[in-house]
Amino acid sequence: MTDIAREVVLARPALSQPTAADFTVVDRAVSPPEGDGWLKVRPLFLSLDPYIGARLRGRHMGEPAPVPGDTLPGYCVAEVQDSHDPAFASGDRVVVEAGWTDLAWVRSMGARRVSTDIGPSLHLSVLGMPGLTAWAGMTQLAKTGTGDILTVNAAAGTVGGVAGQIAKNLGGHAIGIAGGPEKCALVVDRYGFDACADYRRDDWERQLASAVGDGSTIHFENVGAGQLAVGIRMLRLYGRVVLCGLADHYHADAGPAMTAIGPIVGKRAQVFGLVVYDFYPRWAEWTALAEPWVKAGCLAIAEDIGEGLDAAPRQIERLMRGENVGKTLVRIA
Ligand SMILES: NC(=O)c1ccc[n+]([C@@H]2O[C@H](COP(=O)([O-])OP(=O)(O)OC[C@H]3O[C@@H](n4cnc5c(N)ncnc54)[C@H](OP(=O)(O)O)[C@@H]3O)[C@@H](O)[C@H]2O)c1
Repeated sequence: MTDIAREVVLARPALSQPTAADFTVVDRAVSPPEGDGWLKVRPLFLSLDPYIGARLRGRHMGEPAPVPGDTLPGYCVAEVQDSHDPAFASGDRVVVEAGWTDLAWVRSMGARRVSTDIGPSLHLSVLGMPGLTAWAGMTQLAKTGTGDILTVNAAAGTVGGVAGQIAKNLGGHAIGIAGGPEKCALVVDRYGFDACADYRRDDWERQLASAVGDGSTIHFENVGAGQLAVGIRMLRLYGRVVLCGLADHYHADAGPAMTAIGPIVGKRAQVFGLVVYDFYPRWAEWTALAEPWVKAGCLAIAEDIGEGLDAAPRQIERLMRGENVGKTLVRIA
């Protein structure tokens, strides 16, 4: 049977920082594909993530830029409506790359079945790719443990917020850096960080230094060269630095200028580059640790939800401008 799917597509090529006007909503006929290994899915939530901005411009991990009319890249948590794979059944909840749509046929090979006893949107945030990223950086690269003192920026977002809560749950301290008083209050009051410095304030470095005291042992970088230099300056000798994201540079035409590397030598620091794809085979290790934390109330995330697929263009524009507060999502069904 042919269905009609509602989809968000590019209205014009994204040549710079994406804005809502770059997108349009279309209806499209969707027919069941031939053969086995397919699932018909109804997305519940769509995840919007910072990499999508670079991906739309063909600047993410070698993947080509979509052209106007293409289905846009994006993961969603969805319900299986029809299965052409005996390993899946109707009613299963899965995370799949269905794109910005309210209905799709997807390859079952790329589907990850997730539990239904936890809110569906959490499978895109804390238990999803950004949460796995934080786990990989904190536990596998920086090997955090009791007594660590973490500084992390974009701390109100999923990667930063989860990184800090991992530090706290494993016996360390977490000091966030975020843009504005609303985000800083969220980081301390809801995520339980020890402190949060608002980098929009002139005295933020002093705020951060006073929260850090004798120095941090881990700096987790999500933003870019300017804040990285400050994070490295606050490190103790033999500190660890996780280079995770460069949100402040994704829309620039040139890459970030090299940050001062002398202090890395002086601090005898270890610097780790992080690509979450390396850790996809280990997803179950993270969910085994994180699901009990979520249920016990010691791992939380604020959600920045746009209602309905038509809200997706506005939501991606807000994310690209750093205006999101917590995980950026679109509720589809
Ligand atoms: N290495 C990997 O494999 C991997 C995997 C997932 C995510 N990441 C990276 O991790 C970082 C955090 O991801 P997330 O999903 O948790 O995102 P997020 O924190 O929800 O959103 C990005 C945040 O970056 C901050 N930001 C600072 N300058 C910005 C700018 N010029 N434009 C836009 N945002 C800016 C904003 O927070 P403030 O207002 O608080 O500054 C914004 O809210 C991103 O850099 C992302 O690309 C890397």
